[in-house]
Amino acid sequence: MRPEVNGERLLRRLSDFAEIGKTKAGGVNRQALSSEDRAARRLLADLVTARGFNVFQDAIANLFVRREGRDATRPAMLIGSHLDSQPTGGRFDGALGTLAAFEVLEALEDADHETASAIEVVAWTNEEGSRFAPGVMGSMAFVGAAHPDDFRSVVSGDGESFGQELAATLAALPEATMRPLGTPISAYLELHIEQGPSLEREGLAAGVVTAVQGTRWLAVTFSGSAGHAGTTSLAYRRDPMVAATSALNRLQMSIMPQDDDARLTVGRFSTHPGSINAIPDHVTFTVDIRHPDALSLAAIEARIRAVCEEAALSQRCSVEISTSFDMPPGSFSKVMTDRIETAARALALPYKHMISGAFHDALFVSRVAPTAMIFVPCRDGVSHNETEYVEPAHAINGARLLLAATLESVCSLLVIV
Ligand code: GLV
Ligand code: MN
Ligand code: MN
Repeated sequence: MRPEVNGERLLRRLSDFAEIGKTKAGGVNRQALSSEDRAARRLLADLVTARGFNVFQDAIANLFVRREGRDATRPAMLIGSHLDSQPTGGRFDGALGTLAAFEVLEALEDADHETASAIEVVAWTNEEGSRFAPGVMGSMAFVGAAHPDDFRSVVSGDGESFGQELAATLAALPEATMRPLGTPISAYLELHIEQGPSLEREGLAAGVVTAVQGTRWLAVTFSGSAGHAGTTSLAYRRDPMVAATSALNRLQMSIMPQDDDARLTVGRFSTHPGSINAIPDHVTFTVDIRHPDALSLAAIEARIRAVCEEAALSQRCSVEISTSFDMPPGSFSKVMTDRIETAARALALPYKHMISGAFHDALFVSRVAPTAMIFVPCRDGVSHNETEYVEPAHAINGARLLLAATLESVCSLLVIV
C-alpha cells in the first residue's frame, strides 16, 4: 500500500492544537516554554504513545518523535518545525510543519511502509524568540552554535527565567527519553507557511525554499536625565525620548525606502520611569533588521549605530546598543531542493524557487545536514497575526509534498550521507 496523507486527520490535529493557547481573535498565544507550550508538547506526546512511536528530548527540550526504519544504525532523517507561537500568533506558523511531519509518520505507519532509516519528527524549542530572546534557540543548541547554559539567565518580559521554564518543561514530559544534543541526522526538511503573499498571488501550491535572508536583533537604550515635565525648560533637558524618536524617524525614513530588500522593524519600545509628567531617564527599543546579503545587513547595523550616536549627542544623552541575535543569511542544499522539486512534479503541484524572508530553524540545521524547506501559501501573506489562515487544500498539499520529498530523501540516503 502506498503511504497517503490523511487530510481530514491533519486538519483535525491542526484544530486540536489551535485550542491550546487559543485567543479570542482566533489565533494562539503559546509562547515558548509557557504552560500552553507544555500542553501542546503533552498532546503530541500522547498522540505519539497512542501510535507506538518513541519520544525523546534533549537538554534544550527539543522534542523528537521516532519511527524506526530498516537500519537502526543509520542516522535518522529529520522533519518538523515548532509548536511555540508569537504572543498574538496564528494557528499555522510552526504548527503546520510539526503536525504535517507527524502526519507523515502516521501515513507511513498506516501503510505499514518500511523506510531505509528511521524518520524523526522534531518540535524545536523557542523558534519565535518573542518571550525569550533570541529565537531558534533549539536549533542553535542542536548544531552547537550555542549551549543551553548561554540562555539560562534570559528573563522574559513577565519576569520568568528561561532556565526555570526549561527545567519545568523538561520535567513535564517524563516519558521522553533524554538524548544528547546534536544526535546525528542524515537530512532535514521543514514545511512552513510562506508568511508573505507571493505564492497565493501567483496561484502556486508550493515554494521550494533555496535560501533564508539574514536577521539581526539590536537592543538600543538612550539615557538622559529624569526631570519635571512642567518646570524643566528646553535648555535644561537631556531627554532620551527626543534622541530616540529623532533617530527612529531618520532610520525609518531611509533604510527601507532606499533598499527594497531591507527590512527594519521596531517591535518593542519602553521608557523609564514611564510617568506621564516626568522626563524619562531611559528609553529602550528593539530593532529587527533583515537582508538577504550579509554585507548589506552589516552596513544597516553600522548605520543604525551611527544615527543613534548622533541623535544621542544632539540631546546631550548617551546611547548603548547591544546585538542579541545574529543569524547570517544562508543557502539550502541543492540535493534537497532537487528532491522537493522531483516530488512536486510527481504530484503535479505548481511551485517556484524562493528565498525566505522569515528566519527558521532549518537555517541552523543546514550547518550539520543537507536541508531545505517547503512553503505553502497563507491568506494575503498575513502571519504573526491572529487572523493568519491557510486553505485546507494548501495545508494538505504541503503535507503530501513533505511526505513525497521525505520518501525521496530516505530512499536516496546512501547518496547523500
Ligand atoms: C520568525 O518567527 C521570524 O521572525 O522570522
Ligand atoms: Mn515559524
Ligand atoms: Mn513565527
